[in-house]
Amino acid sequence: MKEHTVTITDNKTGQQIELPVKHATHGPSAVDIGRLFRETGYFTFDPGFLSTASCQSSLTYLDGEKGELLYRGYPIEQLAEKSSFIEVAYLMLYGELPDQQQLIAFNDVIIRHSMLNVTMNDFFRGFYHNAHPMAIMVGAVGSLSAFYHDSTDISNARHREIAAHRMIAKMPTIAAACYKHSIGEPQVYPDNSLSYAGNLLRMMFSVPCEQFEINPIAEKALDLIFILHIDHEQNASTSTVRLAGSSGANPFVCIASGIAALWGPAHGGANEAVLTMLNEIGDVKNIPKFLERAKDKNDPFRLMGFGHRVYKNYDPRAKIIRQMCHSVLGKLCHTNDPTLELAQQLEEIALNDEYFIERKLYPNVDFYSGLIYKAIGIPTNMFTVMFAIARTVGWVAQWMEMIADDNQRIGRPRQLYIGPARRDYIEIYKRK
Ligand code: SDX
Repeated sequence: MKEHTVTITDNKTGQQIELPVKHATHGPSAVDIGRLFRETGYFTFDPGFLSTASCQSSLTYLDGEKGELLYRGYPIEQLAEKSSFIEVAYLMLYGELPDQQQLIAFNDVIIRHSMLNVTMNDFFRGFYHNAHPMAIMVGAVGSLSAFYHDSTDISNARHREIAAHRMIAKMPTIAAACYKHSIGEPQVYPDNSLSYAGNLLRMMFSVPCEQFEINPIAEKALDLIFILHIDHEQNASTSTVRLAGSSGANPFVCIASGIAALWGPAHGGANEAVLTMLNEIGDVKNIPKFLERAKDKNDPFRLMGFGHRVYKNYDPRAKIIRQMCHSVLGKLCHTNDPTLELAQQLEEIALNDEYFIERKLYPNVDFYSGLIYKAIGIPTNMFTVMFAIARTVGWVAQWMEMIADDNQRIGRPRQLYIGPARRDYIEIYKRK
């Protein structure tokens, strides 16, 4: 069958080039432009990569128009309803849902890697108590490469697997240590008899002088939110992990680079920014003023938790968390949280506003997640840390996929140079 190609014609020179088309299982096909520069001398220009596929991947598929999200082909709604974070983590790493034995064995491996090298305690103590937990986490995760030299040979598949297990297992312990340091309480070691989410809740909220009961509603809510945040194709932080990994850097520092990129308010930092914004709005009567600010090009204010590069429909994750807000908030907090009411009013008004309709701006995953975290008792400055814990599964899975890809090369984009033309140096006494 004739190969599917597209032809580009230069209407100045009449030069033509025929480029092959690569087809996807779902979603857009891609024009392979690998020969373009070599054969035509042209680069492509796509700041923000709106039309650019940086890689091929079998992990996650998004359909922005439909608001669809699949992990290894499974709809997020079905995984959210029927699976668990640990089971979905296995699916992302190994490509198939585990059987009972595989799930038990995987859970045991992750549990056994949950402790930190004890000298890391000094690392946390080195930060001032009011350091932002994300700042501590970036440092702590990067420092893991100072301890685990036995699993940083990225050409060794077993080393890659061990490093992935260690990252997934240690993120909750690091996150809880960041939190305990910020509130001046002693760190709590992991308890291997608990679930992934239960262990995190205990490490964050238990104190040595009292018994601690895990709230099963909070544990289930956290496990579900973690599933929703596991992966999201080539978002900014995942692309950062892939670019860092393409140079051969060790997996721990690659994940640290992803944490750094996630922190931005345009990305994972939005969940913290949504709560800050809702507190700033304060009352339903102030919503119109803030919506006007969000539309004003001269005002840097944006409606945090709204809009998405890919979703031009409701983010399916936001839909699930919104339903969670109705089902669990009342059980988690004994008083009606006015913030939820304000968020729903804001959503309703924005979704009926021409500016948002025209630009297909809908609530994204960050719009409601903070309300659940707040109801569980997690402070606002830990919201993005929660996002990082869950996204570590996606980051390590994407990193493993990239390293195992025989076609992978160091990522090195080019540029459109618009600086000064070549010119000669002028001695200072000749300058005006
Ligand atoms: C995440 O990539 C991922 O998958 C990310 C993520 C993941 O799981 O990894 O889904 C997680 O990061 C979700 C997004 C969280 N960020 C926020 O909620 C911050 C607020 N949202 C915006 O900053 C923005 O919507 C982005 C960054 C999310 C998307 O930016 P784009 O795709 O570059 O869109 P854009 O800035 O070009 O906006 C298009 C238009 C512009 O107006 P015009 O110039 O056409 O007149 O929409 C406007 C923007 O001004 N716009 C907004 C807006 N978002 C876009 N106007 C007001 N408020 C907003 N939130």
